[in-house]
Amino acid sequence: MGKFAQRFVSHGVAMRIVHGLKAIKVEHENGQPLRIAGIQKTSVEFFGEEAVVRQASQRVVSCLVAGLQLCGIEFSAVSAGKAHDDQDEEGRQSGWGEIGTSIVPVVLLTHARCFGIVADELTAQAIDSLAGCPDARLREVLTSLIRNLHHFAVETSLTEAEWLAGIHFLTDMGRITSPHRQEFILLSDTLGLSMLVDLINHGAGGGATESTVLGPFYVPDSPWRANGDAITDDLGDNPLLVSGHVRDTIGRAIPDAVVDVWQNATNRLYAVQDEHQSPDNLRGRFHTDSDGAFAFRTVRPVDYPIPDDGPVGHMLAVTGRHAWRPAHVHLIVAANGHGKVTTHIFDSTSRYLDSDVVFGVKPSLVRTFVEHDPAVEPPPPGIAGRWCSVDIEIVLQPNAGESRD
Ligand code: BEZ
Ligand code: FE
Repeated sequence: MGKFAQRFVSHGVAMRIVHGLKAIKVEHENGQPLRIAGIQKTSVEFFGEEAVVRQASQRVVSCLVAGLQLCGIEFSAVSAGKAHDDQDEEGRQSGWGEIGTSIVPVVLLTHARCFGIVADELTAQAIDSLAGCPDARLREVLTSLIRNLHHFAVETSLTEAEWLAGIHFLTDMGRITSPHRQEFILLSDTLGLSMLVDLINHGAGGGATESTVLGPFYVPDSPWRANGDAITDDLGDNPLLVSGHVRDTIGRAIPDAVVDVWQNATNRLYAVQDEHQSPDNLRGRFHTDSDGAFAFRTVRPVDYPIPDDGPVGHMLAVTGRHAWRPAHVHLIVAANGHGKVTTHIFDSTSRYLDSDVVFGVKPSLVRTFVEHDPAVEPPPPGIAGRWCSVDIEIVLQPNAGESRD
């Protein structure tokens, strides 16, 4: 018998069902056995889809065959001393037992309810198996994971074929993952989990710049560059000037903050994806000046699809989703004594702002990239022809312990 009891009241009599994996016992709530046909103790056992109600002497008093939808278990009696004994060919009695003059409660368990009780017991056993885990946080996280995984399987009535398809999917994810390809993070991104974790941990407050996904194309230790420098050797046909300031939440400039930026090229690829680009193309680190200002020249980023030639791409295709992200520039901004922020600036003209495949767009991160006619507004040094610009303010939260390195 399991350790879990469910209380119920039927016909005014409080009772409980004590259930285990293989049997269910019906008792009075005070622990006294339920009397049926004058004989103490009744249990209900499940054999496949068949439920058998037994009295303590193991004489079968009621036998019910569980249909797919319904497993009915009834106890009912109206008069003393007799049992209805409709015997079947195998000698099993079905029908109602009697308990003196009392009205016996009627219990009706649906198949789903019986199943639910057994599933709950299994979930409890799996959670109980963690009782000896010495790491309290690990135990807490795994307990919740088990509970929610089991709930997911029950809620969807997961079939064995579906379960196996999921196992194969995860196996394929593992096969394609390498030091250069992290399919699991991509799955987390495309299921919205990465942004949920971001929200839980970085719900920006006090007007600080909001964060968003890091993405797989960040490469640490970008080259240091001077303010105003280009982060590429080829500004192409769509040059962009990015300028901005880093401030704290009460508007004070933060000098000497580190602004680490990276973005894709006009061919949609990041340098790390493209052997034809130099490894340092379209990325760089800057220090803010004494006014908290920074600036760099680049190319206007373009919309691009995330890597969709693996299991995640397959998942997107079979679910009717596209793989696109709206054009953006990535930034990680850090300063001593302030919280670091990992964020983007999105181009307001992108058609994918409302359907980013990784759910990374926050309205506060969308900016207008202003287009300039060189005849009217001469381009800044190092830019020729038509150009565009975007000016941004990055606001960092105070955080006494944090270092920018
Ligand atoms: C990115 O912006 O670089 C990115 C983010 C999540 C998944 C794929 C790419
Ligand atoms: Fe990106």
